[in-house]
Amino acid sequence: MMLADSYGRVATDLRVSLTDRCNLRCAYCMPPEGLDWLPAPEVLTGDEIVRLLRVAVSMLGVREVRFTGGEPLLRKDLTSIVARTAALEPRPEISLTTNGIGLTRLAGALRDAGLDRINVSLDTLRPEVFRKLTRRDRLDDVLAGLEAAAAAGLTPVKVNTVLMRGLNEDEAVPLLKYCLSCGYELRFIEQMPLDAQHGWKRAEMVTAGEIFAALESAFSLIPDDAHARGSAPAETFLIDGGPVRVGVIASVTRPFCGSCDRVRLTADGQVRNCLFARQESDLRTALRSGATDAQIAARWQAAVAGKLPGHGINDPSFLQPDRPMSAIGG
Ligand code: 5AD
Ligand code: SF4
Repeated sequence: MMLADSYGRVATDLRVSLTDRCNLRCAYCMPPEGLDWLPAPEVLTGDEIVRLLRVAVSMLGVREVRFTGGEPLLRKDLTSIVARTAALEPRPEISLTTNGIGLTRLAGALRDAGLDRINVSLDTLRPEVFRKLTRRDRLDDVLAGLEAAAAAGLTPVKVNTVLMRGLNEDEAVPLLKYCLSCGYELRFIEQMPLDAQHGWKRAEMVTAGEIFAALESAFSLIPDDAHARGSAPAETFLIDGGPVRVGVIASVTRPFCGSCDRVRLTADGQVRNCLFARQESDLRTALRSGATDAQIAARWQAAVAGKLPGHGINDPSFLQPDRPMSAIGG
């Protein structure tokens, strides 16, 4: 059995949101006051998550599991969830997307538990811009977290950056220089309409084209054909002849829905076949009312089978999903 849709795509990469809570308030994600968090009883327990992951890897062909949030490091049982995921057969690749706060304490334990790769969000190197963008004064914690991840061997450490006009749009080159000097792999992500406050405006999005132009003023960039895009959303470029690369994820201006291999599970146990899906499929209720593994797998398959061909951000009729990014998982 596999997670196939009616357009010939097969989902093998599962993104699991472990909590919708976060200790930052990034402007492209949340309002300053935060959100109404999911009530605790609705959030899946570690046992429930591991059971769903077992169904996904042993019955549905999922090969890669990425833990996200909100901020997944806020989950007290994260290390144990990672260890139990690493013990599944066949063992999936395990990665984590985090804002980095708390990694100084946790990077080593996560690595020992079986974490393979990590992505840390870093949008600015200027403390005052960090404070404006995330509404918290934690830049030093993020930078220390990045160092701890590298020291723990979670390499190559990847950095995700979202540029916002008037805030950090002039930081493409400094961020790339910083990442090069530390040995981190940087990817820029176009800002998507996923903020809880529905404030996204196309004209305010810093496009992949602009990012590319800014980087080319300081580096020579050669499209990395050897590292063909495949199902990976990042278009990568060799910097000054390589071997180091930089990635640009043009989710809006160059959508890659046609090769998408992802499926998502929210912290409250809903399958989403797309970040921008307007429907979800409730696995939590099935799980808690005694469904068998086979019944859960069948439900999951049906949820992916109904996946639409694309996100439609560029259609006039586009409607933003009801849930923000922090409740869906990156
Ligand atoms: N557009 C693009 N990227 C976003 N992220 C969060 N919200 C958005 C958005 N609206 C990024 C975070 C993190 C990853 C999970 O997704 O910066 O790196
Ligand atoms: Fe938190 Fe990530 Fe949202 Fe920023 S983007 S507020 S770090 S969940």
